[in-house]
Amino acid sequence: MQSNKHRLDRFISATTTTNRKHVRLMLAQKRVLVNGSVATDINQIIGQFDKVELDGLALQDKQPIYLMMHKPVGVVSATKDDQHKTVIDLLPPEYKGLHITGRLDLNSSGLLLLTNDGEWSRELTSPESKVKKCYEVTLENSLTTEYISAFAAGMYFPFEDITTRPAQLEIKSEFIAKVTLEEGRYHQIKRMFGRFRNPVVKLHRTSIGPILLDKALSTGESRLLTKDELDSL
Ligand code: URA
Repeated sequence: MQSNKHRLDRFISATTTTNRKHVRLMLAQKRVLVNGSVATDINQIIGQFDKVELDGLALQDKQPIYLMMHKPVGVVSATKDDQHKTVIDLLPPEYKGLHITGRLDLNSSGLLLLTNDGEWSRELTSPESKVKKCYEVTLENSLTTEYISAFAAGMYFPFEDITTRPAQLEIKSEFIAKVTLEEGRYHQIKRMFGRFRNPVVKLHRTSIGPILLDKALSTGESRLLTKDELDSL
């Protein structure tokens, strides 16, 4: 099943390989519970975290999981890789099935979110969501105030035929900038500094929306998001 939401009769039919006519009978016989209540409406919409039981047996019973990780440099934001360790390799066994919400490059570090909630991920990473992501960027050459206006104006990327959304650049010191993006194009920050022929030496994500990287997490460590963090998004 591809989407996260299904009509009840279709969901039961697919998970039990029973035809929908027979599923209707099961519902009429009150053999199906959704989140503990008898379900009789074939049109009821089932989400990925609704508990569905048939004759007392769970057909679906999954809890949502939301984690933050302090991603180290040299680890790939992917579920599988032939050459490098992946962020999934760093997770405890019970979290191996999670997916990544918004990647970081191999040589970037910092805040990475992981979840089993596809809808949450899509909302957070969709171009319309405009969730702000902050990065601390260390550069090889000195920064100048020119960068501020160039980042704010947006840059045209011919390969994708897009102009980047206005980005905020704050000069923290001669070689360090804080960059805030509302999107996440391929190697976006490196390519933006590339326009100035200024290579990025270090790239570290410090926040995604209101969620800040927990300073108590060492590189490679992860923890569950708190209720307050989840509610803040
Ligand atoms: N921009 C980049 O170039 N790399 C990242 O990992 C994130 C943003």
